[in-house]
Amino acid sequence: MAKMWAGRFSKEVDETVNAFNSSIAFDARMYRQDITGSIAHATMLADCGIIPAEDKAAIIEGLQSILEDLESGALLIDPTAEDIHMFVEAELTKRIGDAGKRLHTARSRNDQVALDIRLTLRDEIAEIRALIAKLVQTLVRLAEQHTMTILPGYTHLQRAQPVTLAHHLMAYVWMLLRDDARLEDTAARMNYCPLGAGALAGTTYPINRKQTAELLGFTAPVANSLDAVSDRDFCVEMASALSLLMVHLSRFSEEIILWCSWEFKFIELDDAYATGSSIMPQKKNPDVTELIRGKTGRVIGDLTTLLTMLKGLPLAYNKDMQEDKEAIFDAIDNVKLCLKTFDPMLATMRVNTENMRAAAAKGFINATDCADYLVKKGLPFRDAYKITGGLVAKCIELGLTLETLPMTEYRAACELFAEDVYEAISLETCLNGRISEGGPSAKAVAEQIALAKAAMK
Ligand code: ARG
Repeated sequence: MAKMWAGRFSKEVDETVNAFNSSIAFDARMYRQDITGSIAHATMLADCGIIPAEDKAAIIEGLQSILEDLESGALLIDPTAEDIHMFVEAELTKRIGDAGKRLHTARSRNDQVALDIRLTLRDEIAEIRALIAKLVQTLVRLAEQHTMTILPGYTHLQRAQPVTLAHHLMAYVWMLLRDDARLEDTAARMNYCPLGAGALAGTTYPINRKQTAELLGFTAPVANSLDAVSDRDFCVEMASALSLLMVHLSRFSEEIILWCSWEFKFIELDDAYATGSSIMPQKKNPDVTELIRGKTGRVIGDLTTLLTMLKGLPLAYNKDMQEDKEAIFDAIDNVKLCLKTFDPMLATMRVNTENMRAAAAKGFINATDCADYLVKKGLPFRDAYKITGGLVAKCIELGLTLETLPMTEYRAACELFAEDVYEAISLETCLNGRISEGGPSAKAVAEQIALAKAAMK
């Protein structure tokens, strides 16, 4: 295709350079935003008396017909075009003639591309936030069903103290709500319009930047034309928010992977969300969660790509910046895939409450409560701690648990022990005694769930 900028060149661009330079393969997905931006720009140009009203009408009609034909498949994007901006403009001029050539007045591809990415990311953030909200709803619904499903809470992956599945799931709800808030912030900071910055230094035409900003739903125009065309902070911010979201999904995935192992057997994934082995007939693998864990590395890589691409760039636009799109779109696409598979996988998994409880009954997760029992009878905590440690060692030696250790052993260790110790260290007592705000008792978790629901609006 002949270049629009061919005026000062005496040769066609080398074929390999042309392919190397082209971004159409990955910016074609912004065609809708490109057309929306051009309609606003043409409207403003006519309102400011820069192009005739008839040209504006022809441009808008032409752009709308291009949009329709792209959506219906009647018009195919030319893979040899330089980028989506050039493709749409060339197609417009093909359709409406000279009026099409007036569209690019007082505009550069530099402010155009900066606009298109912002519009695209704004749409993508809205989609991702809706997916997060759906996942949060699934988790809250599961939590409500499991406020009395006791399982061990772990530190160092060693059984530590009793919690419930509800409490555990709600921990992820809070992470996801923070992820959502970060994306909301990113969208608000990004919502300024670069259009009218031109190539870098504005324009001599009497344009109205406030009008285009308003037409396109932005808070205001970007205040500095150099910043408008060279800023990709919003890509970095979004990639960072998405990386952290993936880190949360990855930690959760790791737990799901552990929980479906034969060693834990806390949950079983629905057959629709697990896969088999080509050689081992007994296998049922949690591939979805492993892929999420794996893709987390890739999204973090996208963030690194963006930061590294920007770090040495002088103002204003540099072609390096074309690399922004593949990185941020890769992060977006993978996050959306992960959220879309993770949510139904959790919604359909079977929870093995007996195995969770059996694990909680072993591992001395009531040892702290046993020590607290002695403290309530007047012993200093350090002494109580030492006595209980001795009892745990005794249990291990005898192959017993604190619940099954005979009273004679308790009394031998400390005179303060009485029959009521068994009640004091039962899992239910240990759990429901943890009434502190944010704790795992059914009552505290119910309050937590109410808080989360309020945060979700
Ligand atoms: N395809 C380019 C990009 O994605 C559009 C802007 C090109 N501007 C230029 N002066 N070459 O960054």
